[in-house]
Amino acid sequence: MRRYHVITFGCQMNEHDSDRIRDVLDEAGYLPAAGLESADIVLLNTCSVREKSEQKLRSEVGRLGMLKRERPSLVIAVAGCVAQQEGERLVKRMPQIDVVIGPDHAAALPRLLEEVEQGSLPRVRTSFDVDAPRFLSSILSGRRGRVSDFVTVMKGCDERCTFCVVPTTRGPERYRPSEEIIAEVERLVQRGTAEVTLLGQTVDSYVDPLRNVERSTPIENAPVGRGAYGRRDESEFPGLLRAIAERVPALGRLRYTSPHPRHLTRRLIEAHRELAVLAKHVHMPVQSGSDRVLKRMLRRYTVAEYSERIAALRQAVPGLTLSTDIIVGFPGETAEDFEKTLELVDAIGFAGVYGFKYSPRPFTPALKLGDDVTAEEKSERLARLFDLSEGQRARHLERCVGSTAQVLVEGPGDRGGYTGRTERNEIVHFDAAHDPTGQFVEVAISYAFRHSLGGVPTSPALQPGPGSRAPGPRVVEPQPTRSPRMLPMLH
Ligand code: 5AD
Repeated sequence: MRRYHVITFGCQMNEHDSDRIRDVLDEAGYLPAAGLESADIVLLNTCSVREKSEQKLRSEVGRLGMLKRERPSLVIAVAGCVAQQEGERLVKRMPQIDVVIGPDHAAALPRLLEEVEQGSLPRVRTSFDVDAPRFLSSILSGRRGRVSDFVTVMKGCDERCTFCVVPTTRGPERYRPSEEIIAEVERLVQRGTAEVTLLGQTVDSYVDPLRNVERSTPIENAPVGRGAYGRRDESEFPGLLRAIAERVPALGRLRYTSPHPRHLTRRLIEAHRELAVLAKHVHMPVQSGSDRVLKRMLRRYTVAEYSERIAALRQAVPGLTLSTDIIVGFPGETAEDFEKTLELVDAIGFAGVYGFKYSPRPFTPALKLGDDVTAEEKSERLARLFDLSEGQRARHLERCVGSTAQVLVEGPGDRGGYTGRTERNEIVHFDAAHDPTGQFVEVAISYAFRHSLGGVPTSPALQPGPGSRAPGPRVVEPQPTRSPRMLPMLH
């Protein structure tokens, strides 16, 4: 029996792709290895959105190369965005690598592995399945349902944000038929999943290729805000949300990531107002608070438009929390531009901000703008952004104390008790008399930690007995987990 080990870098999309890769290998008769040492095949699922990812990959491959010297039969496979971007060049530079597959080739993995094991030269597959897009579904997998899981609705990206490598590494937008999406959601719910997050690089640009979701009128489809009338938006994402809500009524909670503010239409806002299943949290990347920078990033909205759309969404859904992505030190970003970003963050009040230092990526249009903000300046700006957003987060969490929240319990906490998330995406720790994993539990919030909340279940049946710890300063907050759901999406 051949055993595999998958190492994942990067975003939720990559985590999800790694799951599908495991499914494909399981299906082909491979077994998961307990770790690197017992693996016959090691697959590195790579990310190239920001870090010096190739360097990271190189050091990882170097480490595996040493293992391979001891065990020549070890097969090294590289998947994901670096694989797509570098293709053949990877095996030329790192001859230890046996297989390179771009994001659209997971299904071919067993065949390529077999060819390599039979002695063929390294195999490289990096084309995009533009004509017949394939979406691997978790339906294949016999795994037990997770409390919270992901369903891909589209792949690729047609935006041309000048900083972003995704159009090169993930290809053009391709959408999955709504019937397939709904069937997968239904299947997950039958297997015990309570929460589904719809995944896509610009998830709200979704259009049903088979035209089965309800379509909106041009006015409904206009993005909210100044000058938006007449600029018809082609997306039909709200129709998909409605179809899922209607057809899978047993679904407990629905989220999506990551949207582009361009598609925050009236109809999407209406969907948020009307669909109780939609979580009261949206991750809406803004990237900068300066119109000049947004223009150079080719984001296709202004700060005023972003703010107006967000205000309309908040008006429709009182209590909705927001998080965002911000790049500091984009080429040409002046101190004044950056102040405007701080002003926007301050004005909107995000419950979470993911800040990134700009890093030039291969093949991106921004390369020709240079990289003129110094490393020190980028660090300083990031630190200031972090201070501001940490303060906002702390104030937000403190305001939650004294309220009750519906917590979807994800499982035991790292340091005892149980952990789950509210519909507003706050993490909540609490003790319970018995294991409520997978259930919605009402929790009275009594304490704000730095990154999460603590509380007590309101139901007497779940309340822990005497002697158990009360949530509060005596309880050490579990280290903030970098759980996949907390990672920002490629966008
Ligand atoms: N440099 C820095 N941050 C980037 N992101 C994407 N490309 C770059 C880049 N070249 C950030 C964006 C995006 C998040 C996933 O990563 O903020 O929303």
